[in-house]
Amino acid sequence: MEFKFTQDPLEKIPADVALVVVFGNEGEKSSPISLRQTDGGLGLDKLLKQALSKIIREQAFTGKEGETILLNTLSQIKPKYIVVAGLGTAKNFSTETLRRVGGKSVQIANKIRAGSLAVVLESGNMQGKNLDNRLQAFVEGALLANYQFNRFKTKNNTNKKNTFQTFWFKHPGNSARLKKVCEEAYATVEGVNLARDLTNLPPNILTPTALGREAQDLAKKYKNISAKVFSPAEIKKEKMGALLAVAQGAKEPPAFIHLKYTPPQKSKLKVALVGKGITFDSGGLNIKTREMELMKMDMGGAAAVLGVFKILGELKPKVAVEGFIPSCENMPAGNAYRPSDIITTRSGKTVEITNTDAEGRLALADALDFALESKPDYMIDMATLTGGAAYALGELVTPVLGNDKKLVSRLIQAGEKAGEPAWELPIVQEYKKGYSKTPADIKNSGSGTRASTISGAIFLEEFVKKNKWAHMDIASTAWADEPTSIHPMIGATGSPVRTIFYFLNDLA
Ligand code: BES
Ligand code: ZN
Ligand code: ZN
Repeated sequence: MEFKFTQDPLEKIPADVALVVVFGNEGEKSSPISLRQTDGGLGLDKLLKQALSKIIREQAFTGKEGETILLNTLSQIKPKYIVVAGLGTAKNFSTETLRRVGGKSVQIANKIRAGSLAVVLESGNMQGKNLDNRLQAFVEGALLANYQFNRFKTKNNTNKKNTFQTFWFKHPGNSARLKKVCEEAYATVEGVNLARDLTNLPPNILTPTALGREAQDLAKKYKNISAKVFSPAEIKKEKMGALLAVAQGAKEPPAFIHLKYTPPQKSKLKVALVGKGITFDSGGLNIKTREMELMKMDMGGAAAVLGVFKILGELKPKVAVEGFIPSCENMPAGNAYRPSDIITTRSGKTVEITNTDAEGRLALADALDFALESKPDYMIDMATLTGGAAYALGELVTPVLGNDKKLVSRLIQAGEKAGEPAWELPIVQEYKKGYSKTPADIKNSGSGTRASTISGAIFLEEFVKKNKWAHMDIASTAWADEPTSIHPMIGATGSPVRTIFYFLNDLA
């Protein structure tokens, strides 16, 4: 990926596409919009003998967000095409608007096999958003939309590969600073893309062992990152009875991954990230009767931890971070754990297995208990924990629950900044009661409420003691069944990698 800066006007830039972004009109009536001087639109229109404004009128282009026009310039100017993209009303303008416009523009560029895109960077604030923030969002959206997962396509693949690879920015000012903004956005999206790749990989390839290798690769690549992968024998020695119970029906051995990021400067704060790493969730003996083929994504939390670590390695923020990933398959077999088994977790608490499909919380219980020993200031777990997350908040909003108001609200704020909305669900005390109706200390399902996302969090809370902790249930947001401007592909979204990185970066 290349980021080029120039003082030339759009018509002279040797890019395939010139991008003109326009605000829509306020109010109910949607009349065609007018082009502006500042973003180069008016200049192009003049050179093209008003072709641009004519098309805008003819097509009744009103500048709504998501609305675009594509125009071939017939060699009248350097760029072969012009894309006009609507921003929606100025009133509703946010960095998310630019993220989506960036995404949409790159999708169009790839569709017409364009390699480069030029846009004017206007100085000063735009609806209260400064240039750095606007550029960051635009580039982030564009790069997110340029993601592909095609390593298993064997035939005629080359002409389907994305063509986009160069940004051109017209800007009069200091380009060194802006280039840095672009490069940070690039590093961030590379982290998201690692998470997307890992989550999209099928379970016969991305085994717990392979996940461990990914962690070791990060440690090899980045000086500030170390990784230890616990073997099954070491997991036994750690007395992770819950993780081992889930893993016992699978031929694939489990793995427990411990990552450490040490910032260049001494840090006051340490954050523990814990990610559910079930590489395939068949449900176990409580076998799933629907959507089992989706359950390769049950390691989305683990993928997010690794994605965040990649960004930490690249951008080196000031906060100390440790990562913990309990990983295994959940399979039915003659030696699989059974409903009614009672197991002993690493913490010493006993759990009656009332549903083998509630396996994530078991694996996480041992990981949270292990993570406590590093004495983190904050503990955040990310897990594709409950199908109920989709009923609670749908496909676009991640439920966050926790025992620390400040932590939860910081995560929600970071999500807002990232364009990955999150919202708090309450930990309702009354829902705890059902969990103790068991001969063990607690059972792993059936707390007596239909709010499964809440009861999942209640179970986890039993293992975090008094530590400040938040849980993000990404069951419905780590995977997209509908393409959007920044996720053109159905599949892994890489959520909440950006949320967590922004949270960590702002904490430092
Ligand atoms: N991995 C699933 C949750 C899930 C469902 C993730 C759909 C993504 C999409 C989890 O292990 C599970 O099966 N949860 C059960 C818990 C129940 C048995 C208490 C659920 O949500 O139904
Ligand atoms: Zn399950
Ligand atoms: Zn699961």
